Amino acid sequence: MKVLIATEKPFAAVAVDGMRKVIEEAGAELVLLEKYTDKQALLDAAADVDALIIRSDKVDAEVLEAAKNLKVVVRAGAGYDNVDLAAATAHNVCVQNTPGQNSNAVAELVFGLAVMMCRNMYNGTSGTELKDKTLGIQAFGQVGRNVARIARGFEMNVSALDPYCPDNVMEDAGVSPVHSVEQLYRENKVVSIHIPATPETKGSIGYDLIASMPKGGLLINTARKEVIDEEGLIKALDERQDIKYAADVAPARAEEIKERFGDRVFFTPKKMGAQTSEANINAGIAAARQVIAFLTTGEDRFRVNK
Ligand code: 3PG
Repeated sequence: MKVLIATEKPFAAVAVDGMRKVIEEAGAELVLLEKYTDKQALLDAAADVDALIIRSDKVDAEVLEAAKNLKVVVRAGAGYDNVDLAAATAHNVCVQNTPGQNSNAVAELVFGLAVMMCRNMYNGTSGTELKDKTLGIQAFGQVGRNVARIARGFEMNVSALDPYCPDNVMEDAGVSPVHSVEQLYRENKVVSIHIPATPETKGSIGYDLIASMPKGGLLINTARKEVIDEEGLIKALDERQDIKYAADVAPARAEEIKERFGDRVFFTPKKMGAQTSEANINAGIAAARQVIAFLTTGEDRFRVNK
């Protein structure tokens, strides 16, 4: 059994050590491809492996075609919009994710970004506090729930929108359920986005929603850049000089937006949300265990393709 870890953005070394242990103790061989810059390197490395562990690395039909022995792909993380699920199914490859394993790291970054934006990038001018402010969480999945937990410590008034989550689950977490996206944006000074990128969500957050935010509104996106309608974002930032946008997933037009809106916007240079040793260890080792379980027993509890 050969397991390839292919990560353009590598895991912390301590996570790789733990993954190696899980893989080698099961009698499998680990192949490591880190910081690769061209797709050919991935195609070559994947040619004879049984399993592939990735992060945001793209696994498309060409990769699946090249990986003749591939049986399972585990995305060490939550979002799997980087994997062509239909092509994987067509090649009889099981695709899995590791839900929840990196969600605290992402949630902590939300507050790192929020405080930085509220304190005017620490530029010495007078800023604002999070205490007693309204926070709207868009999707109450694993990250959204961690955001709500941390927000309690900041004494924020938290509400959330999630058509897939029963009201009582939110209420039990001290969160007020909201039932329309318009209400979420209209009523919350800080909105934090935690929806996946799907055909339905792509480009779904645009001018109308962003411009409807209360005075001094702050939009935080640690999800995917694709969920934002960038034209609408720019128009809203242009018209509403009081609104700020911070994202862990820089927009396609990041340079232009930074140029136009200065310190009212902030983008991490690389997706940093899950980039902690703890998240790397949790998601990486879970991925290694899932790979071994699948290859040895067929266990596929976290399968995301049909
Ligand atoms: C996820 O979907 O789990 C996060 O966006 C983290 O992605 P990364 O592993 O590429 O940092």
